[in-house]
Formats: sequence, C-alpha cells, structure tokens
Amino acid sequence: MPFVFTIQILSLPKDSLIVKHPKKNPLVLRMLVLMFVMVCGVYICSVCLKQIGGHPTVRLLSYPVAERACDVADIELSEKPYVHYPKPETFNREECACNPVRYFAILSTQRSGSGWFETLLNSHMNISSNGEIFSVKVRRSNISTIVETLDKIYNLDWFTSASKNECTAAVGLKWMLNQGLMQHHEEIAEYLNSKGVSAIFLFRRNLLRRMISILANSFDQNAKLLNGTHKSHVHSTHDAKILASYKPVVNTSLLIPNLRQVEDLVNKSMEYFKSTRHIILYYEDIINNRTKLVDVQNFLRVPLRDLSSRQVKIHKGSLASQVENWGDIEKALEGTPYQSYLHEDYKL
Ligand SMILES: *[C@@H]1O[C@H](CO)[C@@H](O)[C@H](O)[C@H]1NC(C)=O
Ligand SMILES: *[C@@H]1O[C@H](CO)[C@@H](O)[C@H](O)[C@H]1NC(C)=O
Ligand SMILES: *[C@@H]1O[C@H](CO)[C@@H](O)[C@H](O)[C@H]1NC(C)=O
Ligand SMILES: *[C@@H]1O[C@H](CO)[C@@H](O)[C@H](O)[C@H]1NC(C)=O
Ligand SMILES: *[C@@H]1O[C@H](CO)[C@@H](O)[C@H](O)[C@H]1NC(C)=O
Ligand SMILES: *[C@@H]1O[C@H](CO)[C@@H](O)[C@H](O)[C@H]1NC(C)=O
Repeated sequence: MPFVFTIQILSLPKDSLIVKHPKKNPLVLRMLVLMFVMVCGVYICSVCLKQIGGHPTVRLLSYPVAERACDVADIELSEKPYVHYPKPETFNREECACNPVRYFAILSTQRSGSGWFETLLNSHMNISSNGEIFSVKVRRSNISTIVETLDKIYNLDWFTSASKNECTAAVGLKWMLNQGLMQHHEEIAEYLNSKGVSAIFLFRRNLLRRMISILANSFDQNAKLLNGTHKSHVHSTHDAKILASYKPVVNTSLLIPNLRQVEDLVNKSMEYFKSTRHIILYYEDIINNRTKLVDVQNFLRVPLRDLSSRQVKIHKGSLASQVENWGDIEKALEGTPYQSYLHEDYKL
C-alpha cells in the first residue's frame, strides 16, 4: 500500500525532469528515478513497520474510526466515566456498536446466594455476568494477570454461556473476596475506579446460615449425595431435599471466632472499595423483596425486566432443623452480638 502511494506521488517530478533535460538518455533517467522511488518506498515502509511494531495492528487502525461513530452527547456528565463503547477483537458489535456498556463486578463470599443472583442477572437479555472467573488460580497469580483478565472481560472478548455478545449493555463477573480481591485490593480498587467499573456487594445477613451452607456443601464434595456427583446448586426440589437431608454438626468452640472473622472480612472489603461506585445487597433482602432487583437494574442502567432463575433453594425452613446440634449452637450464641442469627428468618 505505501509502495503504490509513493510511486504515484514521485512520478510527477519524474516527467518534469525529462522535459528539462531532453538531450540526456531518457531510459537511464527513468531507471534512476525508479531506483530512487524504490529506495524511498522501502524506507517509508520500514518506518511504518517500526511504528506499528509490537502493537496489534487491527486496534491501531480501527480505534479512531469507530470512536467517532458513537454520539455521546446525551450522556450526563456524571455518567460519562461509567459508559463504555468496547471494540471487541473477536467479533463486531454490529447494530449495537453504539449502545453504551456498563462494567460491573459482583463482590461476594461463597454460599451467599451469588450463584442464584447471577442466574437472575443473566436472565436479562442485556446483562452478561460471566461467573467466577477468578476461581482459576493462574488468573489471579498477580495483578498483571488479574488486569489482563479483567480487560478481556470488559472488552467483551471473554466467552462463557452468559455472554450476550453484541447487545450486551452490562458486562461483569462474580468475584469472591478470597480470590485475590483482598490481597491486591489497592491495585484492584485503582483499576475499578479508573475503568469506571461499578461494584455490587452481595452478602448474607445471617452468617450462621451461610456457615451451615458451607459445611453441607463441603460435605457433599466428598459424599456426592446426588447419584455420585457433587452439586453446589440445584434445579429441582427433589435434589434440594436430598442435599438438605445432611445435617452438619457445628463446632461451637470455633463458632464465634469464625463468625467474627467473616464479619471482619466483609467489613474490610466494603472499606477497601468504598470509593468505587457501588450498591450493597443482602441475599435475605432479595428473597423477601423482589424490588431489590429493580434497584440493581437501575444501578446498572439497563432496561427494566422481570428476572428469573431456575435454581431451587437447598436449605429451607427453620435453622434448628438444618443442623444436628442446635441446642449447643443456641447456648453458644445467646447473649453474644450474633444471637440475632438464631431468630432472624425469612419465609419462602
Ligand atoms: C504473573 O503470573 C503469570 C502466570 O502465573 C506469570 O507468567 C507472570 O510472569 C507473572 N508476572 C509477574 C510480574 O510476576
Ligand atoms: C438489549 O438487547 C436487545 C436485543 O439484543 C437490543 O435490541 C437492545 O438494543 C439492547 N438494549 C440495550 C440497552 O443495549
Ligand atoms: C438420580 O437418581 C434419582 C433416583 O434416586 C433419579 O430420579 C434421577 O433421575 C437421577 N438423576 C440423574 C442425573 O441420574
Ligand atoms: C472443634 O475445634 C477445636 C479447635 O480446633 C478442636 O480442638 C475440636 O476437636 C473440635 N471439635 C470437634 C467436635 O470437632
Ligand atoms: C462490622 O461492621 C459493623 C457495622 O459497621 C459493626 O457493627 C461490626 O462490629 C463490624 N464487625 C467487625 C468484626 O469488625
Ligand atoms: C423493598 O425494596 C424497595 C427498594 O429497595 C424499598 O423501597 C421498599 O421499602 C422495600 N419494601 C419492604 C417491604 O421492605
């Protein structure tokens, strides 16, 4: 391409040269001019290649063109940091290229309803929540691998069953506090803030229920109650009943320190990411009040839809019926800051 270009430009003076010196051999002159043109062409090409070198060519060429195409005039000033027009490298956003995309991260702890919550979000045609991406250790080895992974997700180049591709209006992931998030919190908060990523904190109010869910889930990792396969989430009441049939024994000497540790972790996470745009949700509140899902959709600025999930809750009913040693647990928690966990409940 640069070759053709230079020859066309430089061939203009070539004619004028011939007119000025009609007596000289035109063939030799032509050869000289041609040589000159070739040398220039090679030089220009090598300069071009040097400038492009190392960077993906496609990106350099496509950015300015597409950037100009989207009209951001109607977007409020305060919203601008949170609005993005990703240019995926793996596909074209087609007719939705100029639909704004919001970035989010669900920050949560295991057994806090985040799997269920994510299926609710993903039932929205414009939301892609890509699951627990950082459960894979190499992706959270260090801040570089974390940033690289996040960049790919937010550029819509990460493919999971949740990907909605071109018409995604909100893209994110589910991120457990113990998956590098607390360890690298400074750099991650900086990333979230500079990229305009919104955080959705999702926790459980009743940490005792969460503890029982963890015990039952880790028991099932070995016992595999459902025909020899371990399941953390189920889609039928039949399977839920089988999983709930196991009643763990809670070690009451570790109960209070464990609850305090989790509470402390949750408090710290909210402190670390308090400067990030965020919403705080509790699993129990979403169960009791589906209007919370409207709050989330407003927070993500997506069109309002009815969200649904096929998941079935495993542990229902009173806590007392879910553990082997309820009496001991009551004794251990009465009169402590955690005694409300014994009573606090929800109806299903
Ligand atoms: C980060 O981790 C990846 C994968 O484990 C490794 O290849 C890379 O060298 C590490 N980078 C730094 C800066 O430590
Ligand atoms: C949501 O997805 C639909 C269908 O893919 C698309 O027509 C619509 O423009 C999207 N909405 C937003 C806000 O991106
Ligand atoms: C597991 O076993 C039950 C009977 O206990 C049966 O109804 C169910 O279909 C089985 N599920 C699978 C996935 O094999
Ligand atoms: C409870 O935990 C303590 C401290 O780790 C341990 O010494 C004790 O054996 C445990 N009790 C049971 C019943 O597992
Ligand atoms: C966590 O924060 C709550 C509310 O601010 C506070 O009541 C509680 O004592 C804190 N817990 C720990 C373990 O720091
Ligand atoms: C349900 O949630 C909405 C939105 O957060 C709130 O305004 C409303 O008061 C809640 N209703 C109840 C009964 O808690």
